[in-house]
Amino acid sequence: MAATTSHRGEIERSAERHVDALVLLRADHEQVDALFKGYEKNKGKWDSARKRMAAMEICKSLSIHAQIEEEIFYPACDAQVEDAADLLAEARVEHQSLRDLISKIEDGRAGDDRFDAEVKVLGEFTRHHVREEQNELFPKVHKSDLDRAEIGRLLARRKAELMAEAGPDRTAMSKGTAEAQKHQKSQKKLDHELKESFPASDPPAATIPTIADRGPRK
Ligand SMILES: [Fe+2]
Ligand SMILES: [Fe+2]
Repeated sequence: MAATTSHRGEIERSAERHVDALVLLRADHEQVDALFKGYEKNKGKWDSARKRMAAMEICKSLSIHAQIEEEIFYPACDAQVEDAADLLAEARVEHQSLRDLISKIEDGRAGDDRFDAEVKVLGEFTRHHVREEQNELFPKVHKSDLDRAEIGRLLARRKAELMAEAGPDRTAMSKGTAEAQKHQKSQKKLDHELKESFPASDPPAATIPTIADRGPRK
């Protein structure tokens, strides 16, 4: 889908934001985690159309996140972060596994038990992958000379482009459930935090708790 004028405005605004790359990626991780939790919590009462819509939202968010990491963040880490080659190679392989499962879900039938199982396993794979990024890769990035403000600006811009290409407001698709509304609120809060310029050189990791910080999933 071609970017409309308002989408283009949003893309330009995203390019001007001062966003630390690590804060942006952590925020993405939190948002995807909230979508998985919403699915698990509500799948018993959702009909197959609603399940499919929620699963597609998860797949789209995760695909866009993986794409901006592969296009912008990982290459920047290749160039600037010491001792990260193994982690980056592993992360790329894990992205491919996530994509394979995403394809299965996109081709699946939301009425099958298998569909729920695939969404659940995608959530488990994603949590594992996110834990490694946040606990192993991000600390190395933090210590490196990588320009997190510049990479953050590029990530924000590319994410806005991909979201505009992907179609209408993703959150509008999930209107109507308390979980989705909670997700929308947390998304707005995160957007607000990202817009409010914090010092780009020092990400306030403590203000956005990581998935790993919260311990094992209940
Ligand atoms: Fe990743
Ligand atoms: Fe990530």
